[in-house]
Amino acid sequence: MALLDITDLKTCFPSPDGLVKAVDTVDLHIDKGERLGLIGETGCGKTVLGLSIVRLLQATTRIDGRILYNNIDILKASDGKMRQLRGREIAMILQNPTTSLNPVLKIGDQIAEAISLHQGYMRKEAWSKAVEMLEAVKIPDSAERAHQYPHELSGGMRERVMIAMGLACNPNFIIADEPTKGLDARTKAQIIDLIHETTSKKALLIITHDLGVAGTICDRIAVMYAGELLEEASSDLILNDPLHPYTRGFINSLPSRGLVPIPGTSPSLIDPPQGCRFHNRCPQAAKICSKKHPTLMEIEKGHKVRCLLYN
Ligand SMILES: Nc1ncnc2c1ncn2[C@@H]1O[C@H](COP(=O)(O)OP(=O)(O)O)[C@@H](O)[C@H]1O
Ligand code: SF4
Ligand SMILES: [Mg+2]
Repeated sequence: MALLDITDLKTCFPSPDGLVKAVDTVDLHIDKGERLGLIGETGCGKTVLGLSIVRLLQATTRIDGRILYNNIDILKASDGKMRQLRGREIAMILQNPTTSLNPVLKIGDQIAEAISLHQGYMRKEAWSKAVEMLEAVKIPDSAERAHQYPHELSGGMRERVMIAMGLACNPNFIIADEPTKGLDARTKAQIIDLIHETTSKKALLIITHDLGVAGTICDRIAVMYAGELLEEASSDLILNDPLHPYTRGFINSLPSRGLVPIPGTSPSLIDPPQGCRFHNRCPQAAKICSKKHPTLMEIEKGHKVRCLLYN
């Protein structure tokens, strides 16, 4: 049975120019202990999808559909229930540690605060647990480092602090939003190893624009474009035998595969193109592609594709 089961999710933001449809009719599931990668270009709706799961969006946001976590209906749960779930059950490691960490609080205090909030530890116990967590994410001299402020740490160390905060309450499901963004290759590899080690046996949703990261960590990958899912399959199939022209283009744009960029830019989420949303950038587009909107179809067990070549 799925730990997380998302059906027909639509997340929209009212704006002066119209409704921004950041997540548009998404179905997705994650099993217990499974690692799913959510990939796609900047602005396609990945972070908003993650924030919808933990309901951390401003009050004016419109969310429709159903998100079941362990049979709890997230979109209908009370605010109290959501506070309980966040941290204890589901942790979201937010994108960009520089802005997500409080610049005027010692990192030990920030982790301790999360621990006492969710687990009711007294201050001193929470501080010791925070130091343990810093050690668990391999921050050297953790007892001394706990007294430092975010600006005293490197980008890689700050990401480790974010991971420590996310794991502090021993959640069963972790959403990590761009955990390797902006890191050099060596630090990126270390963070990937760390995520592997510290989240084994937990369910994981890794949000990334880096297919290499998703391929290394995840069992399955879902590809998002302009608010929709376009392809979903095992990491192996996505990397070695992708079917959707966008996924193929995305792979060809990897440095290891020739760095050939997909021409054009992502469409508007206020007024997305009719037909296939990728049609004006697709090398295989036919006339019908600008008229008919393809559905996400299961081509073979576990491999779903949204493209008229397969509909
Ligand atoms: N609070 C918000 N209000 C209005 N639009 C938003 C808000 N948050 C995100 N968006 C828009 O939703 C779209 C998806 O954003 P996001 O999920 O952050 O993309 P990604 O994480 O894939 O880079 C973008 O067009 C972004 O501008
Ligand atoms: S539906 Fe048409 S335009 Fe869209 S990805 Fe498939 S072939 Fe390309
Ligand atoms: Mg994002």
